[in-house]
Amino acid sequence: MPRAAFASIGTAVPDRVVTNADLVALMETSDEWIQQRTGIRERHWVKEGEGVADLAERAAHRALEKAGWQPSDVEAIVFASIQGDHVFPGDGCYLQARLGLPGVPAIDIRNACSGFLYGLSVANAWIVSGTYKRILLVGAEVQSTGLDVSTRGRDVAVIFGDGAGAVCLEATDDPGRGVLSVHLHADGRFAKELSGAAPGAIYHPRVSVQQIEDGSVFPHMEGQKVFKHAIVKMPEVMREALEKNGAQAADLKLVVPHQANLRIAEVVQKSLGLRDDQVFNNIQKYGNTTAASIPLCLEEAVEARGVQRGDLVGLCAFGAGFTWASALIRW
Ligand SMILES: CC(C)(COP(=O)(O)OP(=O)(O)OC[C@H]1O[C@@H](n2cnc3c(N)ncnc32)[C@H](O)[C@@H]1OP(=O)(O)O)[C@@H](O)C(=O)NCCC(=O)NCCS
Repeated sequence: MPRAAFASIGTAVPDRVVTNADLVALMETSDEWIQQRTGIRERHWVKEGEGVADLAERAAHRALEKAGWQPSDVEAIVFASIQGDHVFPGDGCYLQARLGLPGVPAIDIRNACSGFLYGLSVANAWIVSGTYKRILLVGAEVQSTGLDVSTRGRDVAVIFGDGAGAVCLEATDDPGRGVLSVHLHADGRFAKELSGAAPGAIYHPRVSVQQIEDGSVFPHMEGQKVFKHAIVKMPEVMREALEKNGAQAADLKLVVPHQANLRIAEVVQKSLGLRDDQVFNNIQKYGNTTAASIPLCLEEAVEARGVQRGDLVGLCAFGAGFTWASALIRW
């Protein structure tokens, strides 16, 4: 059976850098509060007219170039994003058109911060089953245009950033390389704890002036609940991956946790007993970029930690749903 191997990673973030000091001008917050609670120093936010498909296209071209692929080599697109440029269709189709690939399937995945790993699971299954040999997996997110950047929304607004990461996944028969496993979980009993209520099909009309005024159009997050679940579920699902593959935490060359919050990543590292050189974080520069955060961090991490062919790499995520997931990869 073939395996899915990472042929390349390409990333893109908007040019506009928003520092903690910039946020202080918009809401009652401080650089100290944000850094102490989240580790974030700055994030990138889109300028007007720039969207999810723009970031995804830039990341995709970089990934294709690094893999030495032409766009026409892509047999399927898996696109993870919590909320696209438009209500529908998803940005998978917009990206497909921009890459000039009529007829190539494009699937959209909306599993928030676990979206990249949910997408990897789909792409991996297609490759292992022999359905496709070359897949473009994208995590792309524009959060900034949906944030309440007043004091009312400060708990959420300071956390999120915009960005995109694209991975060229190829089928390989090399037994020493590729995705070993992907584990996915969800618990919808906590759907409302991290959610966006409106616009929604349950409302007539789908969004009202009142909802705009009372903030129902902005994300709602019960921060402490999210934190408490994330620090349990992320190590748990990483351990599940290790056990399934008969590996130990010490065998891991690199772990890239979803960049939700530096404090969460630190607890995950401690819980798994990982050394500093086994874990990589870059939330300090990008904030939480939801489905883009793992590829955005992985590209930098592979370089910074000198990951070589055959090294064991672990990925884990937690986010809205609640959903959580892990993947173990022989690089
Ligand atoms: C959001 C988070 C940083 C808040 O930290 P916390 O220590 O739980 O803080 P609390 O929510 O208890 O709020 C403490 C105080 O800070 C205030 N506060 C909230 N956001 C603030 C901000 N940006 N700046 C300054 N003060 C802020 C609150 O209003 C509260 O004030 P009060 O004590 O007067 O009521 C933290 O809960 C967290 O990181 N949760 C996980 C979030 C996450 O990872 N989300 C993405 C999941 S994929």
